[in-house]
Amino acid sequence: KTRVLTGITTSGTPHLGNYVGAIRPAVAASRQAGVESFYFLADLHSLIKLQSPERVQRSTLEIAAAWLAAGLDPAHVWFYRQSDIPEIPELTWLLTCVAGKGILNRAHAYKAAVDKNRAEGEDDDAAITAGLFMYPVLMAADILVFNANKVPVGRDQVQHIEMARDFGQRFNHLYGEPAGKEFFALPEAVIEEHVATLPGLDGRKMSKSYDNVIPLSASREELKKLIFSIVTDSKAPGEAKDPGGSNVFQLYQAFAGAEETAAMRQAYADGIGWGDAKQKLFERIDAEIAPLRERYESLIAAPQRIEEQLRDGARRVREAYATPLLGELREAVGLRDLS
Ligand code: TYM
Repeated sequence: KTRVLTGITTSGTPHLGNYVGAIRPAVAASRQAGVESFYFLADLHSLIKLQSPERVQRSTLEIAAAWLAAGLDPAHVWFYRQSDIPEIPELTWLLTCVAGKGILNRAHAYKAAVDKNRAEGEDDDAAITAGLFMYPVLMAADILVFNANKVPVGRDQVQHIEMARDFGQRFNHLYGEPAGKEFFALPEAVIEEHVATLPGLDGRKMSKSYDNVIPLSASREELKKLIFSIVTDSKAPGEAKDPGGSNVFQLYQAFAGAEETAAMRQAYADGIGWGDAKQKLFERIDAEIAPLRERYESLIAAPQRIEEQLRDGARRVREAYATPLLGELREAVGLRDLS
């Protein structure tokens, strides 16, 4: 079976970018024959950005509810919280000891933080934690601990998957070849081309860090208000508009089928007004997420049920895969097998 795995960092409220970039394709993949899915809440990753226990917990609950509301079935999919799997931080250390520091130096998130320091005249590494630097190794452990083959993600995560391949390959080479074994499958990123990066309200990538998100749980009224606040150019109704350069169009495309998208492209050429274009976008998104919003509300009202599902998922997936694999790996590197 092909193993499909993806996670979302629990550092905020789930938004449409997470939905179209990760949740929607992942839930669809989980329903295909011949697929075994692993979907999780990356709460260890959230500590890199957040030092607020309440917010980490709230976000964990909200993101879990978003997965379930989008149709994830915990009876068919391995669904768990990263920090419930102690084998993940343990594997992180084993990978840390084979990961090239030079590769980590090139990670986008770390480089962006260094560039920002330089622009502000600070030391390169001022206020950068070792956690931020090590982020890709923890992510590689998430993927390799379950030998995932395919990882559906937005474009911003592709570099991390390439690093996971690199670390897995190095480990295989160093410890597997002498033993005639291949410990890790090498993962591939899967990107939905038409929604690779969903723009936010201001046209930059939709992201918790930019405060430009449309929450997945937004009420109908909030959704409408947010959509009508999207930044556009000042072309009047009747003037032809450029779909390629428009956030409103890109969002539409992420929610519409090929035919609807083609029709909308024509409407842009014919000079649809921004008000109309936004109304159409609102209707399209609302039609897709209204049922989800309702399920989300009832799920979030019963956190205990979600908590049980997460614990149960972690217990079963550890027993099935993580604990025996770490036993093997410990032995391979010369440590005692605890399993
Ligand atoms: P995170 O939490 O930033 O985002 C979760 C997923 O949502 C996608 N995404 C987007 N896709 C399209 N357009 C957007 N505007 C947008 N914003 C977010 C992201 O690409 C991602 O797929 N490090 C990861 C979480 C993680 C992970 C993993 C993912 C931890 N371990 C192992 C896959 C496999 C992250 O911070 O994603």
